Amino acid sequence: MVSTKTKIGNYEFENCFMNAAGVCCYDREELEKVINSDAGSFVTKTATLNIREGNPLPRYYDTDLGCINSMGLPNLGFEYYLDYLLELQKTMPKRAFFFSLVGLSQEETHTLLKRVQESDFNGLTELNLSCPNVPGKPQIAYDLETTEKLLAEIFVYFKKPLGIKLPPYFDMVHFDQAAAVFNKFPLTFINCVNSIGNGLVINDETVVIKPKNGFGGIGGEYVKPTALANVHAFYQRLNSNIKIIGTGGVLTGRDAFEHILCGASMVQIGTTLHKEGPGAFRRITEELKVLMREKGYKTIEDFRGKLKYL
Ligand code: SIN
Repeated sequence: MVSTKTKIGNYEFENCFMNAAGVCCYDREELEKVINSDAGSFVTKTATLNIREGNPLPRYYDTDLGCINSMGLPNLGFEYYLDYLLELQKTMPKRAFFFSLVGLSQEETHTLLKRVQESDFNGLTELNLSCPNVPGKPQIAYDLETTEKLLAEIFVYFKKPLGIKLPPYFDMVHFDQAAAVFNKFPLTFINCVNSIGNGLVINDETVVIKPKNGFGGIGGEYVKPTALANVHAFYQRLNSNIKIIGTGGVLTGRDAFEHILCGASMVQIGTTLHKEGPGAFRRITEELKVLMREKGYKTIEDFRGKLKYL
């Protein structure tokens, strides 16, 4: 029997696949589709304190090799997702889910995390430090000084399992510097990577999305090598108790296998889920299991992080 069960912190998941924040997670109806699929968990759309409409349309565009998007964090507000998560804790006590959130200011981030801390929520929180699409707001995790200060303040009061969603880094020195910061804190996980920020897709002579004159985050096939590099670079550098969620360019079971080989304990699916719908979880899980059987692996721990070098 081949199993794709996994563990993050003290939480066990029947399957290592879940959605990436932003896809199939805007409201209860979408999240229920993920719950009722073969996914092992879900993460909510990144919540801000108040409801946000997000950026003007069109703001998402599929291409042959992935997508470009500049959604701008449209969401139904913190309380909506917290209420739903608390309800699920009662109706599905054996399953654990992820609550993605970020404030539009550091003060708002503290307000949100303090509310999570005070609430009965007993799942995992994913702090999004990497959205490239809110005009005027930087991708926080590219500023490591700010990130370190923010995490230091957060861990004074936040005692529940916390992870951070990261943008891709592109330089070995930045992997070293970022890992040195993250290793100072009791993070339960990091999630690599959010979209590659501020790409540009052109159709004939015109951009394809409206916000920011066409600039937007790039996802899908384009990003797999960058995502794998980030997963593996952090796997090599982080304390082993900080688990890694691999996100980026997962179209097939083989792609997921590569993320796990690089060190991922869980794998998120974004662009492919958007293109194919929740049936993608079953297909990709089956493809991964076929590959594991061929290679004689029974669990994902048999090959996780065991990338071979020349
Ligand atoms: C968005 O809402 O713009 C995408 C979310 C993200 O990149 O974090």
